[in-house]
Amino acid sequence: MTTPFSPPLYMQRYQFVIDYVKTYRPKKVIDFGCAECCLLKKLKFHRNGIQLLVGVDINSVVLLKRMHTLAPLISDYLQPSDGPLTIELYQGSVTEREPCTRGFDLVTCVELIEHLELVEVASFSEVVFGYMSPGAVIVSTPNAEFNPLLPGLRGFRNYDHKFEWTRAEFESWAHKVCRDYGYSVHFTGVGEAVGHWREVGFCTQIAVFQRNFHDSMSNAERLEPSVYRLMYKVVYPSLSDNNIYQRTLVNEVLYEAQHLRQEWLSRMDSSNNAHFCAPPLMHLFQHGAEGGTPDWQPVYQQGGTICVPLACVWSSPRVRVLCGSVQRLREELLEDERVRMSADGTVLNLPAADAEEAEEKEEVEEEEDVKAVSVVANSVEEDWDRELGCYGNI
Ligand SMILES: C[S@@+](CC[C@H](N)C(=O)[O-])C[C@H]1O[C@@H](n2cnc3c(N)ncnc32)[C@H](O)[C@@H]1O
Repeated sequence: MTTPFSPPLYMQRYQFVIDYVKTYRPKKVIDFGCAECCLLKKLKFHRNGIQLLVGVDINSVVLLKRMHTLAPLISDYLQPSDGPLTIELYQGSVTEREPCTRGFDLVTCVELIEHLELVEVASFSEVVFGYMSPGAVIVSTPNAEFNPLLPGLRGFRNYDHKFEWTRAEFESWAHKVCRDYGYSVHFTGVGEAVGHWREVGFCTQIAVFQRNFHDSMSNAERLEPSVYRLMYKVVYPSLSDNNIYQRTLVNEVLYEAQHLRQEWLSRMDSSNNAHFCAPPLMHLFQHGAEGGTPDWQPVYQQGGTICVPLACVWSSPRVRVLCGSVQRLREELLEDERVRMSADGTVLNLPAADAEEAEEKEEVEEEEDVKAVSVVANSVEEDWDRELGCYGNI
């Protein structure tokens, strides 16, 4: 069946969840019936403070298909995010009590409930709202009243649907859940018909539940045995990890210092100008440098070393965001063996000649030596030829 909606209905459902996450910023999110992880993948990009993202599906084959798409990209390593993110995928059923699913801020069940037998819906309610007891739950499901408007549809929208509810049926189930487990709910949806057909409601009906009480979990409950099967787990690089923070900061500082050094060398080449003022003086003072503003100095050369004052590097917005104060910057750099600094910790020392340039120069010199040797060798060979020629008649 082709969708009459633009953007397609499934995209509108995902966008609904993304907008919710953007507004309420849950830290721990679990998606039941995650199938090929499409919603998880979107949430990974629009994480808005999510720290733990879990997907659960009863079907391991469908999970295996695209779970690799949740792996970090090169850009996640080059520019690690501020906050931590762990993604886990489990094979399991939403009708089972699994200890690791407790304590979540948001549970999403997008087009899942209609795949359960009606008898299982009671377990679903008990497990999700009673046992897991998350801060919020988003449940989406087809609105049966919309079906007559879907071109070519006979019966349910999918062969695996066990039921499709009218708005009244959905609302009646949702209100009972609220009464039984202490939640409040509001109804909305995505995919609207036009004109007087609007009265049939949204094509996908959505209930957003909010827990009405503060939840606290005992340690004993956390220690219950696990029933789900862990299929995949990945911890994203993040600046909250000290090693990654240190590496990112030092990379950024070295990149900035190299850039200033290169600019200084080019200016020296072209104009023989003795002092290159990296950023304008005012600029440095405007941004301030809590923790002790180092005296501003231009980049300069001392023998075979280009000296880049810390104040010049501090003018990089990214370095300032990463570090917060010059004092901290100095401390972090002094700890890293890749950084060469002056004894007082105010200047970065870089070699005037590039390691690569030096290597290239060495290679050229070696090549020249080889050529020289082969010229000599050739001339010796020629002599031998001549010699052989001399004795050829013997
Ligand atoms: C229509 S798909 C929904 C896919 C996904 N939520 C989305 O919107 O793209 C329904 C998924 O629910 C899964 N499912 C069915 N019964 C389940 C159960 N008891 N527990 C967990 N997942 C279940 C199915 O395997 C299937 O992948």
